[in-house]
Amino acid sequence: MPDIQSFFHQCQLQIEHLLNVELARHTHISKSLNDAIHYSIFNGGKRFRPSLCYATAIALNAPTKSVDCAAAAIELIHCYSLVHDDLPAIDNDDLRRGKLTCHKAFDEATAILAGDALQAYAFEMLISLNPEIPPAQKLHMGLSLARACGFEGMAAGQELDIANTGKTCSLDHLEIIHRYKTGKMISACIDLSAQAVSVDGSERHQALQHYAQALGLAFQVKDDILDVEGSTEVLGKNKGADQLLNKTTYPSLLGMEAAKEKAEQLNQQALAALKIFGNEANLLREISNYVIHREN
Ligand code: IPE
Ligand code: IPE
Ligand code: MG
Ligand code: MG
Ligand code: MG
Repeated sequence: MPDIQSFFHQCQLQIEHLLNVELARHTHISKSLNDAIHYSIFNGGKRFRPSLCYATAIALNAPTKSVDCAAAAIELIHCYSLVHDDLPAIDNDDLRRGKLTCHKAFDEATAILAGDALQAYAFEMLISLNPEIPPAQKLHMGLSLARACGFEGMAAGQELDIANTGKTCSLDHLEIIHRYKTGKMISACIDLSAQAVSVDGSERHQALQHYAQALGLAFQVKDDILDVEGSTEVLGKNKGADQLLNKTTYPSLLGMEAAKEKAEQLNQQALAALKIFGNEANLLREISNYVIHREN
């Protein structure tokens, strides 16, 4: 099994090659919209979610290619969510992945439309890639993705996050915000991948769902920690953005040490959920450790 850094690198190459080839097939009705879409995809993202899809395939003894449609669709939804998250009406950020945010590099209207188009394109990729997956299974995957990103998922979490800006909230409420705005899309990586390789509903799928729930919350707790302790250069986004907007975060509510303890507890929960797996889940184990120790 490759070490985690070379695994991430391979996953980045796989997903970027795939998205490049697919995007090249499309016509340029509006050059600025195509440019904004391209800019928002190929800008140095970690490709964490595609890597999670691919590691899930490996844990389920399937080739990574068999979950390409899930990896592409989820990364495209993620890219759209970042473009909209950075808009003046939401987090009002000007730096993303080390470059100007989409609305700064283009304009606000183009950024809104690029987000809309990326969301639609995600579903197009889910439908058109991996044609060997039976249509009933694809429909199931589409439903899971829609639920993970829509008003019962990421979009709901973003709305709760906005409503909470400038106020303080309870730890329980913060956990709900984080589980929706970030956790739902991380769980979607597991669900869509399990569906793509037809093991949904199995004991292994349930174990992976428990893993993903802990991992998704850990991912956002660490994101909050990095906003305080990271460097703008390494993060590729402005540190201190949460404090500037007076957002409630794990460090602001619990203090830094307890926030780090929470991240470690979630890591242990994620690892414990994988106990029914053997070495085939080692990449998922390393991903969990990576999530709470990463620097960007
Ligand atoms: C940032 O996600 C937004 C959150 C959900 C916390 P990532 O940290 O995965 O960002 P990229 O894709 O690498 O830029
Ligand atoms: C964003 O959370 C989550 C989504 C984009 C859905 P944050 O607002 O904390 O993400 P960053 O820190 O800007 O990447
Ligand atoms: Mg935000
Ligand atoms: Mg933000
Ligand atoms: Mg953040």
